Formats: sequence, C-alpha cells, structure tokens
Amino acid sequence: MAESGDKKNPQVGIPERLPLLPMRDIVVFPHMLLPLFIARGISIRAIEEALAGNKMVLLAAQKSLDIEGPQPGDIYSVGTVGAIMRMIKLPDGKVKVLVQGLAKAKIVSFVQSAPFYQVKIKKVVEPARDGVSVESEAVIRTVKEQVERMVSLGKPIIPDVVAVIENMENPGRLADMVASNMGLTVDAAQEVLELQDPIARLRKVSGFLAKEMDVLLVQQKIQSEARGEMDKMQREYFLREQMKAIQKELGDSDERIEEIEEFRVKIAAAEMPEKVAKEAEKQLKRLGKMHPDSAEAGTVRTYLEWLVELPWGKSTRDNLDIHLAKKVLDEDHYNLEKVKERILEFLAVRKMKGRMKGPILCFVGPPGVGKTSLGRSIARAIGREFVRVSLGGIRDEAEIRGHRRTYVGSLPGRIIQGIKQAGTNNPVFMMDEIDKIGIDFRGDPSSALLEVLDPEQNHAFSDHYLGVPFDLSNVMFITTANQIDPIPVPLRDRMEMIEISSYTTEEKEGIARNYLIPRQLSEHGVSAGAVHISDAAIRHVVTQYTREAGVRNLEREIAHILRKIVRQMAEGKRRKYHVGPSSVHRYLGIPKFLPEAEQEKDEVGVATGLAWTPTGGDILRVEATTMTGKGGLTLTGSLGDVMKESAQAALSYIRSRSKHFGILPGTFSKTDIHIHVPAGAIPKDGPSAGITMATALASVLTGCILRRDMAMTGEVTLQGRVLPVGGLKEKILAAKRAGIKGIILPRRNKKDLEEVPLQAQRGMKFIFADHMDDVLVSAFRGSLKRPHQHQKL
Ligand SMILES: Nc1ncnc2c1ncn2[C@@H]1O[C@H](COP(=O)(O)OP(=O)(O)O)[C@@H](O)[C@H]1O
Ligand SMILES: [Mg+2]
Repeated sequence: MAESGDKKNPQVGIPERLPLLPMRDIVVFPHMLLPLFIARGISIRAIEEALAGNKMVLLAAQKSLDIEGPQPGDIYSVGTVGAIMRMIKLPDGKVKVLVQGLAKAKIVSFVQSAPFYQVKIKKVVEPARDGVSVESEAVIRTVKEQVERMVSLGKPIIPDVVAVIENMENPGRLADMVASNMGLTVDAAQEVLELQDPIARLRKVSGFLAKEMDVLLVQQKIQSEARGEMDKMQREYFLREQMKAIQKELGDSDERIEEIEEFRVKIAAAEMPEKVAKEAEKQLKRLGKMHPDSAEAGTVRTYLEWLVELPWGKSTRDNLDIHLAKKVLDEDHYNLEKVKERILEFLAVRKMKGRMKGPILCFVGPPGVGKTSLGRSIARAIGREFVRVSLGGIRDEAEIRGHRRTYVGSLPGRIIQGIKQAGTNNPVFMMDEIDKIGIDFRGDPSSALLEVLDPEQNHAFSDHYLGVPFDLSNVMFITTANQIDPIPVPLRDRMEMIEISSYTTEEKEGIARNYLIPRQLSEHGVSAGAVHISDAAIRHVVTQYTREAGVRNLEREIAHILRKIVRQMAEGKRRKYHVGPSSVHRYLGIPKFLPEAEQEKDEVGVATGLAWTPTGGDILRVEATTMTGKGGLTLTGSLGDVMKESAQAALSYIRSRSKHFGILPGTFSKTDIHIHVPAGAIPKDGPSAGITMATALASVLTGCILRRDMAMTGEVTLQGRVLPVGGLKEKILAAKRAGIKGIILPRRNKKDLEEVPLQAQRGMKFIFADHMDDVLVSAFRGSLKRPHQHQKL
C-alpha cells in the first residue's frame, strides 16, 4: 500500500450517497492507493454503479471476515470514501480495481440493499491541532523509532514505505500510513480508523507497535534457539571437516583427492565422445566413494587410466604426396619395384577417394623380406604413427577384444592396446602373422578381426574391457602373412594380397651393400669411411654364413663382423679396416653352409628334393635304405598322409618296373624298405616329393649313385608319369642358395620359370621331365647298371 501523494484532492466533490463496498479483510485509510480483488455480486454491482457515475464508493470493513452476504449490522459504520482509478475484468469473472482512499466517512443510513448497498454518508472531519506540540513530536518520534526497530528485527516492510514514514511530520497521516502497513488485524485497524484525534490515533498505533514488537522479540528468541540447534549441526560439520584434514595428514587421502582431481582434468583433456566422457565421470564418482586401497578401487583406477590415455581425439594429418612417398619407400628398401609400385597405386587411390576405406593390404612372403619394414615405411611416407601387433598363436577372441572388467586382471585386447601405444587414432596398424591365428573353444578370433577390418563396422569397435565403442575407421590396417592358404576366407576377401618372394643372392648383396651395412655402421657408431667390406666378402657372408629367404641373418652376421671390428678399434689397434673374404672367415669362424656339391660325396639312396615352406623354399634330403625282412615299408620324418601315399605310389611304381630296373625277382618279399626324410621334427606333407622318393628307392634298389647337386620336384603316378607341382619360384631360389647345379622339374611347370629372376636361373641347368625315366637319367651319376650285385641280399 502506498500513499497517493499530492494528487489533486477530490474530497470536495464527495456526494451524500454512495454505493457501498463491504470489505472482508482489510481496512482502507485515506491517502492509500491499493488494489482490491472483488468477487461478490453485490460488490461488483456496486463497482459498476460507481463507474457509471463519479467513480466513488464507500469502502467499509465487515466486522467478521467469514460472512458471505453481510447485513447492514455486519458492517462497521466508519469507512473511507475511495475513488476507483482503474478496473480490470479478470477471466474468472472477478474484478480487479485500483482504489485511492479519499476521506473518512460515516454511514448515516442504508438507502438501498439490492442489487447492491447504497448508503447515505457523512464526512468525518479531523479536529484541527495548532502547531507542533511537544506531545505530538514525542509520539511521532516514538512511532518512527518503533518502525525502525521492527524493521531491524526482521519485520517485512517495503523499504520505500519505510522511507516515506521517516519523512512524515503529520501525526494523523503517519498513524494511517503505519497502521495500514503494519499488518494489523481488521479490528485493530478499524479501531485506529475510528479515532478522530490524530495524536490519539498515533498513540493507539504506537501501542499496537509495542505489542507487535514484543511478539517480534519472542519470535526472535525462538529463532535464535532454533539457530542454536543449527549451530550444533554446523559445529559437527566443522569437526568432520577437521577430521578429514587430520586423516589427510595421517594417511593418503590427500593423494586421493589429488588423484580424483587429476583424473577430472585428464578426462576433460581427453576429447572423449560424450558417451565415453559420461562413463568416465560415472566411474570417477564410484572411485571417490571407494576405499582407496580396495581391490575394486584398483580396478576402477586402471580402467580410468585406460580411458584417459586413449587417443580419442588425437590424430595426425596425412601427407598424401605420392612423390614423397616414393622417395621414402626407395630410401628404406632396395629393389622391390613391383611391390613399391603397388603400394604407391594404393596410396594414390586413397588420395583420390579422400577416405581411407577399402581393401586392406596384406604382404605375403617368407620371413625377413621386409614386410614389417615396408609397413613402417608407409607410415613414415604418409606421416602416421606405426604400431605392430603379432597375431601369431592367438586362439582366444578375448586377445582381440579384451576381457570384461569382471575378470581379475582383465585388460583391453590387442587392438586397443596397439591404439594406445600409437597415441593417435589414425596410425598405420600392422597385424603380423594373420595366417597364424587359430580357432578353439574360446571363440574365433578371426570373427573379431573381421569386425576390426570392416570399414562398415569398425567406426564403433567394441572392446569388452572398455565397454564403450572406439572409432577405428581412420586406422590404416596392413596385415602380413607367410602364406595365403591358412587365412580364413572371409578375412582374405577383405585384403589385397601383395606377394614378396625370397631374395636372390644378388639382391641380398645389394641390400647388404646399400642398406644393411650403412645402417649397422651407424648403429655401431662407426663412420662410413672407417670400414670397407668388399663385394667378395659380402657374397661370402651371403652364401656361406646364411641360407634364408630374407635378410635377417645376413644383417645379424654383418652386425657380428662390425662388433668385432668396433672392439678392435676400441682397443686402439687400427683406424681403417678392409674386410675381404678371408677376414670374413676370421671374424665369423668356419662357414655355416657349403654349397651342396661341395659338402659330402654323392651317395646311393639319397636323393635331393625341393620343398616349399612358409619361410621360403628349402632343399629336402630323401634317404632310402633296404634291409632283410619280408616286404614292409617304413616311413619316418613326420610325413603327412599325402606324402605317405606318395611314397607308396613311388614304391609300387618301382616294383612294377623292377624288371626294367634289373631288380632280381623275389627281392621285395625278402626285403624291408625304410624311407626317411631328415629334420624329422619338422612336419612335411604334399605330393611334390614323389619323384624324389621314387629316385631314392630306385637308387638303393639298383645300387646306382645319385648326384648330390641335382635337385628335383614333382608328383609321380603309378605309371611313372611326372605331374606338375606348386611353389616353383621359391624352390628354385632355395636350390640356388644351396649351390645346386641342376633341377629336374615337371615339364608342365616350365612356364613357372618366367617368374623366377634371371639371376637365379643363371648357371642352373633345368631338366623338364614327363616320366620317371627322364628323371632317373639325369639323377644318376652314370647310367643305370643292371643287374647289380648289390641286390643279392
Ligand atoms: N628390400 C630391402 N631393402 C632394405 N632392407 C630390407 C629389405 N628387405 C628387408 N630388409 C631389412 O631386413 C630386415 C628384416 O625385415 P622385416 O621387415 O622384419 O621382414 P619381415 O617382416 O618380412 O619378416 C629389416 O631390417 C629390413 O629393413
Ligand atoms: Mg615381420
């Protein structure tokens, strides 16, 4: 309620008759401006009547609040004439009016009672007081002080009203103002209203204030007692805080708080997807509630560490400059032109397509030919991180996908481990030995791999340990294998095979000269000028100290030589070293391999075969021997079923042709035959040793000597026909490595020679056989002797 201020005083025109507005819960004083909500019919009609005329009503309070339809006797006879300033009709039918109190008036009589009360009134005139009496001054001050105290005791009074009160000097108006703002009951307010003398009125108000003040004081006391209770709680809180501080002093909880804080910072910095960040926050909350030394806390901690350390948002920018990529590949690898060409094409396609999607490269070839290092080079060429994970021997799906965290000591699978190691989410990711994964009861790792390699699925790869998806779609996967066949077909279908075959002696020499020796020199801290290794020395190392498809041992032997030299240098012997063939012998000891021809003498019953293995080709000795018995055949040397059958077929062929070979009749019924293929622990299988076994048998049964430097490969039929076999290229390279001078091979394999480097063909005699007869002619030293004394066992 506010005072209306100095508006023009309309009191003059107050008429004798006015509509009456009975008021339930409020007493209106002159000069007050206040809104009223009106709901009752008689009141609304009264307002309407007033608005139709001079806009004035008499505002008089009801004696009792809960009378719905007041009779004249229920209404106090003293009220205030009010002017209606504004009216708003509310949607619910009620009316809101803004009224201003004009002057006090007394009801003389009721002139009309329906549809609203009309009353005859008489203005109440305040007795005039002259000047400012001491008494008036004192009461005014008292009241003002009282108001001030009450405000300080927490009585809610609008500050504007307080300010107006402070500046009031008229006791009557002060009384009205305070009375209408102190929240007096209707009875009390009416009492004030009815007092005509301003001083008496103000005293009355002061009396009410004093009473109100007592109430406030008691209220305050009650509140402060209640606050005492509160204080007790607060004290406990502080004590608890102190206890925490003490615990911190004594124990490790300080570290703990720090730990949580650290995690929070790391989570914020890890650029996690929203879902992951939520999970991290959840786990952090759990960690905060756990005993720091509990096993569970340890698990959660490890998990959080994984989450914050994974490169969710970290990646490198690709360099897709094909010229630069070529330069890098050439810098790192000798020759391999075809392979590099394919890699560059692959990168070019990536560049044009924009996204790194599509087939996955798979380098296939024997060990040590540079598969892994090519992968590393690709990463270097396009400016990505490189990680390598070996899949060899993995049988358990969990190795790929991780174990659920409920397992003790569980960890993410190798994929996520690799990503963490890379530190970026778009590395070149090499999966080595993809041909060596297996399947067993713990699940099929290849199906998990399939998901990893599938561009449609790998944007949300789920690792069991993480429990949240990780986006692998920007990773460039490269796989390697020694052979294609064991790779599960669905995986194979996603991959683009790039075959890398064994190196020839010449290639190895080139690699050694241009790559391995410079690298080893720098790794041993030797300047390039200080050690010179001659071409002849390199050839010596290649042919006499290594026999491998790749260059791993070659690099090892070179390192070996350099170690010896470095030691001599350290001992201050010489500054410059020249390494020739003889010093190779000095540094590396006696040769580990000699060309086959130079090894032992030619023998009866020992034929030289050629085998293809995942680690490159190899030569294979087949030994046959006879002893007194009754026609048995023993096969040893870890031979597979196909190879055993092939041995049976070879024997049957020889028996059926025994007359031709001059083998005495009855020999077989009195003889046991034993075929052995040395390196007995290594499993061997396949039909391609057929002609070799037949040759060994023919030799032992006829006593003819076999040439050691003549190797052979081919399947044999019961009629002695020679059928083509696979793996020719690796077999020929292996024969060359072993110092073999001639190779007998099925005629239908002749076309395979096109793939064999010319260097490897040079100096090698190739004999193309259609039939066993062709084989034996070349394999025996000298011609078939028949009959032979030797056979009379
Ligand atoms: N063509 C080559 N030029 C230069 N170095 C090579 C070449 N091929 C292989 N190497 C080197 O031989 C070593 C063995 O290669 P690596 O990549 O491990 O073979 P893989 O993965 O095929 O078994 C590496 O040090 C590699 O740099
Ligand atoms: Mg490798």
